[in-house]
Parts: sequence; C-alpha cells; structure tokens
Amino acid sequence: MLETRISRRAALIGAGAVAAWLASPARALLQAVGRLDVPPFVDQLIGRMTLEEKAGQLSLMASAWGGGAALALNPPQGNADFPRQVEEARKGQLTGVFNGNGATMARILQTAAVKESRMKIPLIFAADIIHGHRTIFPVPLAEVASFEPDLARRTAEAAAFEAAGAGIDWTFSPMVDIARDQRWGRGVEGGGEDVLMGRLFAAARVQGFQGSDFKSIDHMLACAKHFAAYGAAEEGLDYNTVDMSEERLREVYLQPYKAAFDAGALSAMASFNDINGVPSTGNHWLMTDLLRGEWGFQGFVVSDYTGDEEMIAHGFAKDGRDAARLALLAGVDMSMQSGLYRQHLPDLVRKGEVPQATLDQSVRRVLAMKAMLGLFDDPFRRIDVKRESARSMLPRTRALAREAGRKAIVMLKNERDLLPLPRSGKKIALIGPFARGQHDLVGPWVVYGDDAKAVDLATGFRSALTDKNSLIIAEGSGVEEPIAGGIEQAVTAARAADIVVLAIGEGQGMSGEAQSRTEIVVPEPQQALAEAVATAGKPMVVVLKHGRALALQGAVANAPAILATWFLGTETGNAIADVLFGDYSPSGRLPASFPLRSGQEPYYYAHKSTGRPNPPGPLEAYKAHFRGIPNSALYPFGHGLTYGKIDYSGLALSAPALPMSGEIAITATVTNRGTRAAEEVVQLYTHDRVASLTRPVRELKAFRKVALAPGQSEVVRFTLRASDLAFYSRDNRLTVEPGSFDVWIAPSAEADGLHATFELTA
Ligand code: NOJ
Repeated sequence: MLETRISRRAALIGAGAVAAWLASPARALLQAVGRLDVPPFVDQLIGRMTLEEKAGQLSLMASAWGGGAALALNPPQGNADFPRQVEEARKGQLTGVFNGNGATMARILQTAAVKESRMKIPLIFAADIIHGHRTIFPVPLAEVASFEPDLARRTAEAAAFEAAGAGIDWTFSPMVDIARDQRWGRGVEGGGEDVLMGRLFAAARVQGFQGSDFKSIDHMLACAKHFAAYGAAEEGLDYNTVDMSEERLREVYLQPYKAAFDAGALSAMASFNDINGVPSTGNHWLMTDLLRGEWGFQGFVVSDYTGDEEMIAHGFAKDGRDAARLALLAGVDMSMQSGLYRQHLPDLVRKGEVPQATLDQSVRRVLAMKAMLGLFDDPFRRIDVKRESARSMLPRTRALAREAGRKAIVMLKNERDLLPLPRSGKKIALIGPFARGQHDLVGPWVVYGDDAKAVDLATGFRSALTDKNSLIIAEGSGVEEPIAGGIEQAVTAARAADIVVLAIGEGQGMSGEAQSRTEIVVPEPQQALAEAVATAGKPMVVVLKHGRALALQGAVANAPAILATWFLGTETGNAIADVLFGDYSPSGRLPASFPLRSGQEPYYYAHKSTGRPNPPGPLEAYKAHFRGIPNSALYPFGHGLTYGKIDYSGLALSAPALPMSGEIAITATVTNRGTRAAEEVVQLYTHDRVASLTRPVRELKAFRKVALAPGQSEVVRFTLRASDLAFYSRDNRLTVEPGSFDVWIAPSAEADGLHATFELTA
C-alpha cells in the first residue's frame, strides 16, 4: 500500500537542497572548470609511451627528500633514498611525489623528469595541505564552527598561495567525510556531522584551493577524500568496515563529495574502508558506475597510501598483482605508495588481464590534468625558491589565521556573565598543560608548519592584559600523564588568583589518523587536575583543546564558563585572548554534538525518532534512552553562545502550504537584548512527519549569521522549496512526498526555538 502511495504521489526531482551560497555566481564559474580538457598532444604522447612509462605515470610516491621525513605522517614504508628517487624520475617510473620539502627538492626532481627522462613528462608535486602550509589555520572541523563557508574558502586560498609558492601543484584536501562518531580521530579534518555543512564547506574549500584557473601559480588542484564514507567506520575505529543502506550512503555520506566535484574538484582519493563488503579501492560501482557514470566526474582517482595493497589484508585481493588489477579495473587511476601499479600493470596488460585501453584512459586523465595545471607549458611554474620564502607567513595571512581562530571558538557556557574577563584589576591563574608552550597548538595533519612560530596561550594573554603581572601560570598536569607535585602547585596558583582559566583537553596527537578513542573524555590526569582546582572555589573558565566533540564530566562540565577552542593553528593564543577578554564576541557554533557520555556515540542530532522516543521531560520506562541518561546532547550541533542576549520571536510563514512547484517564506525576528554586540547564527530545521521511509527528527536546511548591536532587531527570512525536502527513497531516487512538515527557527539543533508546521501539497 505504501508503495502505491509513493508511485502515485511522489515527485522526482533533479537536485536536493542547495543553500544560496552554492547558487552564487562563483559557483557557476566553478562548474565550468569541472571539465577535464584533453589537449591533442596527450594522445600523441600516450602513443609513444612504453607500458612501463605508462605505469610510471600512475605511480605516486612519498618524497624521499631529507631521508624520507615525509614518511613520518604515514606508516613507514618505501623509499627514503632521494638519489634513488631522482633516478626513478629519470627512468619515467614516477608521476610525482608528495609531502616533500619545498621548491629546492622540486627543482631537482623536476629537472630529472623534464630534462633527463625519455618522454620528458613533468612530475606533479602533491602534499597534505589540510589547514595551512606555513601559516597554520584552525583545523578544518574548527573552521566549520564559524558557520561561514566563505571563511574556509579564504583560508584554503591563502594556504594554496603559500603552498603553490613552494612548488606544490596538488593538495590532498578537502577531506569531506561526514563524521558522526566522535570516537573516530579523523573527524578533525572534516566538516562535522551535518550534511548541509559538509556540502557547503566541501565546495568552499575546493573553490579556495583551485580558484578559477588551474594554471594559476597561486592555486592548486584539490582532491576530495576519502571516497567514500570513510567517516562511517564501525565503532569509530579508523580503517574499519562500513556497512549501510544505499539510501543512507546517498543521502548523508556521499553528499559532500558530490558538492566538491560539482564545485570543480578534478581529483578524488579512494578511502581505505570497505563498503558493504567491497573495499573502495576495488569498488567498480563506486569509482566508475557512480562517480563517472552517474555523476559525470572527469578527473582522476588516486588510491590512499598503499590502499591498493591493503585489499590483500581485506581479503579481497589474492596478492599484489591481483590488487593492482582490481584497483585499475575499478577505476582507481593512480596508485599511492605501494608501487604495485608500476610493478604489475605492464605485465597485466601484456597478458591481457587488463585492457590496454583502460590503462591508456587512466594515463590520459593524469596527463590531461598535468596539462591543465600548466606543467607542460612550464614545469617549473610553481617552483621558485625566492617566491617560496617571499610568500611564507605574510602578516595578512597571519591576520586571516587570527580571524579564523576567533570565529572557530564556541562558547558553550557562560554563567553569570563570567566572560569576558577584565584586562586589569584581577589576578588570573592560567592552569593546565596547554597554558604555556608551543605544543599542541597547530593541530594534527601539519606537514610544513612550525610550532615555534605559533602563539601560545600565555603569550596571547599577556598581550591582552593591561597588567602583565596579573597572570600566574601553572602546568598542573601533562596531557596524558600526571606530573609530580603538579596538582598542589596548581591549587596554590588558583588560591592566589581571583579567576582561574583551565586550559585542558586533548593533545594534538590524540586526533587525526589512527587516533580513535574508546572514551571521548578529558584525559584522566587532567580531569583530576580540574577536580582539585575547583576546590579552590574560584570562578573557573575551562578552555578546551580538542580534535573532536568531547563528553564533559564533573568539575569540567560544572565550570561556569566553557570555551571549545579545538586546535586553532599559528594564532591560537591571540585568537583565544580576543574572545576571553572581549575584543571579539564569540560567534562559533558546534559542528558536532557534545554528547552526555561517550557511550552514546555515534551520536548526531539528525537521528531517527524510533518507535519509542522518550517524550520531553523525565525519563520514562521502556523508551529509547540509556539507563539514567537521556539520548540527547549536553551541547548539541549548532549550539554556541555570544556576549549578547539573543531573543527569538515572531515566527511567520508566508502561507500555510508549500506547493510542489512554489516556495514558502519563513521569517522570524532576532533581537539582541544585551549590552554587547553579538553575531547570532540563526538556524532553520525541518522534520517530515510521515514519509515512506522514516526521517530524521530534525535536519538543518539553512542558516544565517546576523550581526546585532545592543538593542538591535533583525528580521531573518528563509525560503524553502519542495526540493529542500527531498530524500532518497527505497529505489535510491531523490523523492519529494507531500505531507506535514515541522519547521523550527532555533539557536541549535535541540533548542525549542520557534516552531510551526506547514503542508507540502501535490
Ligand atoms: C593517508 C591518509 O589517509 C590520507 O588522508 C593522506 O592524504 C595520505 N596518507 C598521504 O599522506
């Protein structure tokens, strides 16, 4: 019966909800560059290449420069001998290298390739430019807290400017994996838990890295990774299995990759995981049928680091030869680090196990991309030692890092207006392992940044304070180990002060690749420090460092003021001081929910209702909650306070119904009743009450960041169309079903906010 209802009433549409930003002229420009142009000389080159040279063009290796320092970010494997690598370039066995060190290295290798190899094909230089090159910006997850995709576009552009100046043509970024399990360590590199945010930030970052001209020496090729659904690893355990319905895959996890490709990204990286039993690296449906067939992606796909070889451990390939065959046939054009392509492809083609046309097609994609990047015109276009240093850490880039840092900070709590802190007249005890020292500031996935250039908290505080002597500092504890006498010293410091700022949380090595945690809490010795310091009875501000949402407990959760500050990069101390001392009114919003307990993970706001949801209020028997703990967040997605007092009122809909081909306007008034200026992120959520497949309890559809002076009111207007309410039906088509919808304009995903209903009519 349900089926009948769908076929009779459902309307298929071509595209889902896309925020205004994506409809901007900039987006139109980017869609034009999602095309791969293949100049005629590429096919002439392919016609003259040996099978070995072709396989070489599909083989990417970690740079061996400096004894293989680049290998430190990945499992040690492969060649750390630079002269041998130069020889490989000369022999045409290499398409390029990654994470090498700058223009000097690139010049040596490029010279070998274009002057001394038979085909004179230029190398491509790649790197993990994840959140900055020399100037380090906030980790990507933190930047999402700004709810300002254009900020991410600007930082990506600034990172590209520095990195392209250092000879880098291609970044392994953006990482666009939706992460709904905070135990997973790599959520720090991505866009958080939400689909709309994932899409907007994916597109913005691609636009920033690539600009509108691939030949520009200020930009570089972006790579959407890790295709696909790497963030959905079971148990939040990195590299683990993904097993999910195709509807969920399409509706949630695939969305940001699609947005990245629509924004023009011309490379993709295959993920390590298997999906429904098939490793991505060998997944023909994913890499060919969907990516190229359905989505029309024209660029090239690179494996992740030894991802092809890992199909042996997955139990999907028999040996290295089989792995190379499966990966290429699936549609993975380039092999990273295993060397399996250059080892096996020539023989696989000779024996007829891989068609020559398939090999040629992958080579064509790679060479065409090199041509588009301008490497055939001038292989040294981005390689210039003087330009490299002239672009490094310019004042304007550092200023952008400070702006991004301030905007990424989320004020979770501020009882009795403890914040902002006074600049004078009070003694402040800055306590914790992150109080002082240039460690754990820049965050994970930094290849070229320098800790010594980062501003620590103590330095940031001192430059904000009028009386520099009013600051007392105590380390109190190590990140994961106690320090002898640390707690006693910290309690003494707290007693001697009027206000305590406790800088605690995760070290930067606790998130990132292979850093899954079973408990997403403040490490035990620091929790003990917090409990002890709280006994001094002073007003306490907790400044959290973290690469994921945390489950806050005890004295940390009970502190009257809490700031989520992630890893903010080079300008950490200044950005935090800007917010703490009131130069900047916090405007960040959580891109991932802070649960009540670790055991709720994977916790995300857009969950389904179940048949037994607990009604609002006390826990009831036989309802969907844990023993003694509701299934809600301590601080949900979208939450964040300001120094203003924001009031929501006057929700109005332009009509009681939204026709299939029309739109509905939803307006509300936000007022700042406080005495300080504020920026409010006004969020619009919907819920489909009855559908042929169960729908999430809320979904973010749009948001606006509104600046409000004290006493100022602003009417915020959103429009919704039927396409904004589409979902993937059981046949994996995007569908809109008429019926009743809830709509909220609210300050977070779990706040009551203002609520109304409307009908979507056929
Ligand atoms: C493995 C990681 O999964 C990937 O994100 C990264 O780009 C490569 N290593 C290269 O460092």
